[in-house]
Amino acid sequence: MEHEIAIESSLREKRRFKPDPAFARKANVPGQAAYNRMAKAAEKNPERFWAQQAREHVSWFVPWKKVLDWKLPFAKWFVGAKTNVSFNCLDRHLEGENAWRKNKAAIIWEGEPGDTRVLTYGDLHREVCKFANVLKSQNVKKGDRIVLYMPLIPELAIAMLACTRIGAVHSIIFGGFSADSIRDRIKDAQAKLVVTADGGWRRGRIIQLKKLVDEALEDLPSVERVIVYRRTDHGVPMREGRDLWWDALMEGASTDCKPAKLDSEHPLFILYTSGSTGRPKGILHTTGGYLTQATVTARYIFDLKDEDTYWCTADIGWITGHSYVVYGILANGATTLLYEGAPNHPDEERFWQIIDRYKVTILYTAPTAIRTFMKWGDHHPKKYSLRSLRLLGTVGEPINPEAWMWYRRIIGRNRCPIVDTWWQTETGGIMITPIPGGVATPPGSATRPFPGISAAVVDEQGEEVPTNEGGYLVITKPWPGMLRGIYGDPKRYRKEYWSRFPGVYFAGDGARRDKDGNFWVMGRIDDVMNVAGHRLSTMEVESALVSHKMVAEAAVVGRPDDIKGTAVVCFVTLEEDEQAVPGLDKELKDHVAKEIGPIGRPDEVRFTDALPKTRSGKIMRRLLRDIAAGRETLGDTTTLEDYSVLAALREDED
Ligand code: WTA
Repeated sequence: MEHEIAIESSLREKRRFKPDPAFARKANVPGQAAYNRMAKAAEKNPERFWAQQAREHVSWFVPWKKVLDWKLPFAKWFVGAKTNVSFNCLDRHLEGENAWRKNKAAIIWEGEPGDTRVLTYGDLHREVCKFANVLKSQNVKKGDRIVLYMPLIPELAIAMLACTRIGAVHSIIFGGFSADSIRDRIKDAQAKLVVTADGGWRRGRIIQLKKLVDEALEDLPSVERVIVYRRTDHGVPMREGRDLWWDALMEGASTDCKPAKLDSEHPLFILYTSGSTGRPKGILHTTGGYLTQATVTARYIFDLKDEDTYWCTADIGWITGHSYVVYGILANGATTLLYEGAPNHPDEERFWQIIDRYKVTILYTAPTAIRTFMKWGDHHPKKYSLRSLRLLGTVGEPINPEAWMWYRRIIGRNRCPIVDTWWQTETGGIMITPIPGGVATPPGSATRPFPGISAAVVDEQGEEVPTNEGGYLVITKPWPGMLRGIYGDPKRYRKEYWSRFPGVYFAGDGARRDKDGNFWVMGRIDDVMNVAGHRLSTMEVESALVSHKMVAEAAVVGRPDDIKGTAVVCFVTLEEDEQAVPGLDKELKDHVAKEIGPIGRPDEVRFTDALPKTRSGKIMRRLLRDIAAGRETLGDTTTLEDYSVLAALREDED
């Protein structure tokens, strides 16, 4: 793995937005003094802080014997305790002093064609119990892995919660992934049941989910059952003996299903993400610690109240959707809004319409989306009141100060605090973030570690770097929501996260810390690209390219992009007797999109006779990155195997 880091950061943002006293007074963390007290106590004794939070905000059937058992790099949180995630998200809102929530909206959903549904906590509880019984009737047992490949519809949340209710482990695959990706993930997790839908709506078109599942399962007999929810109703073939309709199974299902009393460390879900090799890794999260962090961070960072209508625009197929569309939000008894489709269907005003229609109070979205809205023009959001909004959040990639200011002015109307939240699939929950009302925010910085989280910026040797110097972002103490491993691969877990700097977690991001202690995350420094807020590894795209019969060798790099953050640029050499005929670049783009899914589609394919390599045969990515970005190449080229290659690549540009 090649690590490079921009040590010099030209970004020197001076603006600071102080917490609004009116917001702070009513906030769950009521103001700067309260925040400072909380942060200080947590710093002094993080375990005690997390234990206190876990006692206060999570319900347990059996209390823990020990808060943390840490045998680096393996952590156990709330050791010996028993709980259940679906109980925390549902049942406890239906009893005791919270019983009034039975008829409160848990999920407000809008489909892309404009159909809408509201599920109260009572409704959701009933549906989850029924589907849990359906899973049981299909012989799903505690610990079994279940793949969910669904559109953004309430049934996805129902299926997740049903799994957690009986201790089955879900692995959600985002609907933008290809049949090959589904197959790899099913194989890796050895899943025996898949829940999908006939299709989903996206920009007025049907995404053929069932068809892709059928393709993926062609040579995977280990999958015994496919449960199909009828969403688009466009008539899909059902395989006898394997495929069953969701509605038929639900019809007779009992609404009675006791939540299993699961060990705090019982596996909750696997979620695949890109690492620095071609093979996606199954990030494993467990029950008690994850639930605690998701619940507590959602409560303080989004300042969740019973009156809120909270909307996180992420798909549930990403970690953001797991933690902050479903688990963290429902565990707080809040109302979560789901929108199935594209932000520009039928036009560029869909988001602002939704906000006004449902009086959304909290909006959590990605910088890529914000930059896209900027491009579409201020006149769209300006037509709408947006008065209901009181808090804004961003996640997924660094937000440039210009986009941050636009978000604040045009969407927040200068009234709403912004929380820029840094975290990862691996961290389970938010790690670095302002607390609204408690922390002054500079545009473009995720500010401080959440109370109970310890982060640092270090150099190659693992020493903390001085103020404002760039380095590697590390987490220095275990945290409750941390990944418990890479599914089936403890060696890779240790290697990827815990071996770069002994004893600390290596996040793979570059960062600097300013004199006020604010973290400025600069983005990935490994072979992972952050494309429109989605993680994609250069190796994944490379292996997709070389699987094309005409391609001999490929090198993939990211190029800075105004909207997507990073654009994917591919340098390709062809097999001896092949020619870069017109249209081949499109064919290769299509090929990658088919292999990985639409999210992997390259922005640019360039053909070259050879790739620049060091004497040891390593592709010189830094050079390629510079060429892709059109920058002058300043790096040391003395080890270039063949200078002419670089010269040729450059000439190609003129
Ligand atoms: C990037 C998404 C800067 C970062 C929750 C990280 C961010 C990767 C931010 C994880 C942020 C996420 N500022 N960069 N606020 N949030 N990132 O696993 O590079 O899909 O390592 O999790 O996104 O992406 P993942």
